[in-house]
Amino acid sequence: MWPYPRILAHRGGGTLAPENTYAGLRCGMEHGFRAIEFDIMLARDGVPVVLHDAALGRTVNGSGNVVDYDARELAAMDAGSWFGRGFRGEPVPLFVEFAQFCKAHGVWMNMEIKPSPGFERATGAAVARVAAALYAGELEQGGEALARVPLLSSFSHAALEAAMEAAPAVPRACLMERLAPGWEQVARSVDAVAIHTSHRHLTLDQAQAVKAAGFGLFCYTVNDPARARELLAWGVDAFCTDRIDLIPPDVAAPHK
Ligand code: G3P
Ligand code: MG
Repeated sequence: MWPYPRILAHRGGGTLAPENTYAGLRCGMEHGFRAIEFDIMLARDGVPVVLHDAALGRTVNGSGNVVDYDARELAAMDAGSWFGRGFRGEPVPLFVEFAQFCKAHGVWMNMEIKPSPGFERATGAAVARVAAALYAGELEQGGEALARVPLLSSFSHAALEAAMEAAPAVPRACLMERLAPGWEQVARSVDAVAIHTSHRHLTLDQAQAVKAAGFGLFCYTVNDPARARELLAWGVDAFCTDRIDLIPPDVAAPHK
């Protein structure tokens, strides 16, 4: 059974607000979402920040790479102007603070570990340690409280291995653009609870195979309501969407 919400706002507020920012998160919440996916990487000083790209320039005013700057320097940069003038000065969130904010507001998190090249293990371990510390109470309590614990995911197997070593109790999911042969062994080797995959390549047979193997199945990034209904009918447990205006959240009890 999938204990988590079924519909997540991708990068906080989908394409309605600057990605991976508090403005995005607030936008998602204003649309009723209480579950989000976002991306995390390490700054030069090893402090995790909420960002998608290893290079500055697309969403953050600046040049060079994320690992060229300390977290406080990144947090002072503008991650909102690229999206619109009204978002000027929107900071790059520090991961710890962002996660605390989500927890305080009852927002469930799929934390995507998005390491800069060469920082796979360090990023996986850092994200897992933060999640374990923030949700120590829930992990200790067990039972239904575990549904509030974030789900870590990554395309990087090394990051997931390091996360497993650093905080084995925090659940992990393997991100795979496509389900290639051997996917099940890869997932089992990091004791993953779920497979996260692009809906574009997913077939009904593959969806059924993932579920039959006992994994949760999550798709990214589903923006068409008809496709969303189809995937759910296939047994897909959950997905994230950029179109939080077209696909409403499901904050009701998760399906069995
Ligand atoms: O976690 C699902 C999805 O976010 C993976 O792709 O590039 O949007 O981070 P990307
Ligand atoms: Mg992502």
